[in-house]
Amino acid sequence: MLEEKGQKNSMDRRRFLTLSTAATGAMLLSRCATPNSQQPSSVLRSQAGQLTIDLAASPTRVNLGGVRSHLLSYNQQVPGPRWEVRPGDAVEIRFKNQLDVHSNLHFHGLHLPPTGEADNPLRMVAPGETALYRFTIPSDHRAGTFWYHPHHHGNVAAQVAGGLAGLLVVRGDLDEIPEIRAAQEAFLVLQDFDLNWRGQLQEPIPVFRMWGREGNRISINGQASPTLPLPQAGLLRLRLLNASSSRVYRLQLKDHPWYLIATDGGALGEPIETDEVILASGERAELLVPGTREPGTYEIVNLPYDRGTMDMMGGTRGHGKIMGSSTQTEPIQIARLAYQEGTADIPLPKALIPVETLPEPGVTREFVFDHGIDAQTGQPFLINGQAFDHSRVDVQTRLDTVEDWFIINKAGLDHPFHLHTNSFQVVSRDRNPEPYRAWRDVVNVRAYETVQIRVPFRNFTGKTVFHCHVLDHEDQGMMGIVEIAA
Ligand code: C2O
Ligand code: CU
Ligand code: CU
Repeated sequence: MLEEKGQKNSMDRRRFLTLSTAATGAMLLSRCATPNSQQPSSVLRSQAGQLTIDLAASPTRVNLGGVRSHLLSYNQQVPGPRWEVRPGDAVEIRFKNQLDVHSNLHFHGLHLPPTGEADNPLRMVAPGETALYRFTIPSDHRAGTFWYHPHHHGNVAAQVAGGLAGLLVVRGDLDEIPEIRAAQEAFLVLQDFDLNWRGQLQEPIPVFRMWGREGNRISINGQASPTLPLPQAGLLRLRLLNASSSRVYRLQLKDHPWYLIATDGGALGEPIETDEVILASGERAELLVPGTREPGTYEIVNLPYDRGTMDMMGGTRGHGKIMGSSTQTEPIQIARLAYQEGTADIPLPKALIPVETLPEPGVTREFVFDHGIDAQTGQPFLINGQAFDHSRVDVQTRLDTVEDWFIINKAGLDHPFHLHTNSFQVVSRDRNPEPYRAWRDVVNVRAYETVQIRVPFRNFTGKTVFHCHVLDHEDQGMMGIVEIAA
């Protein structure tokens, strides 16, 4: 599907030179007056406790906000269909791989067995093969915004950056809070695509792959900047997913308040007024926007974000700097909120869902993220000096224990840390205590930063993975295996 291979060399230099400048102009789909004709993604809801899905991954032609594009899709949709389940539901997916390379499925953020036919990232589905995925959402699963995407080591970045991603929503107690129930709801799936002039995906040049590919087009639900209704005197609940493979979004609602109500792993204890919402690859956030301002139209913009620079040779900081630190130099509008007549006054809820306090950890570990060359594999992205090896267990833990992990980024580039199977809470960043408790499964560890997280290992045994969610880094070795023993 990456049809540019043959012309790659002639394209490389031009693309490299234009990365920092062209991105801003080309990025904003909405700047051209083309209509949004892509159909919204379908919604697949469980019925009577069961969700059964036929899901096919295939190359597809998509109208991406007026740009004819050749992408990868689930069931011909970019983003893929949104699944909605409740705690206790049984889920069955017949996944057909119609790509020409291996793929599989991962249910990012869900608390599921990491083994067998459940959330098993080490499983492989060959081209043309159909695989059955089966699991039950635990009856005490937190409500929240999760997602699914491919996880076949080595192919993850290309497949996610090609468009393979979809929302996976768990409905529950958060949705039952009266004010939230009465709120208008909108989902925003943020993706970026690196397209050539024919709308085809481009194979990233090597340095771009090192840095983590970013696209020259941002799309929101497969559209250019959408306009969302904001009920006057009511509430709009925004549910955001960063489904880009590397890009960090730094979002601001201009001249208007918004309140964070949930992170990756579900609700906060109470709404928190925020200025910027920063989402690294894989992260989610939910916000409430109260319709209490002067009626009108307000903009959500994405501000430039500095992910740092790639310095390959450890120890010689500043040398070997091979890439600029942002492909975006100006704010870009990604959505508009337009006031509309409200039906009822809805106040902001005072309290949400209490976030439990985890016990003190029994074990503390350190994970150093850095760049170098792994002696065995030659791969450049390392955790504790080693690149991923699927036959090696990096960490042994026990069920029903709590551990503190220090994620130490010794590189000049951000590395968002992600753990499968169990969500965690951030305890501190560079020793500064986290101001509020929240469940997460991704935390962006900034260049040279140390983040302390607290993880409870619950319910499921077996091997699972942790990795950098810059998916090019994951593909190039920045991943490890943790085995949870009974
Ligand atoms: Cu969203 Cu292991 O990844
Ligand atoms: Cu995941
Ligand atoms: Cu990384």
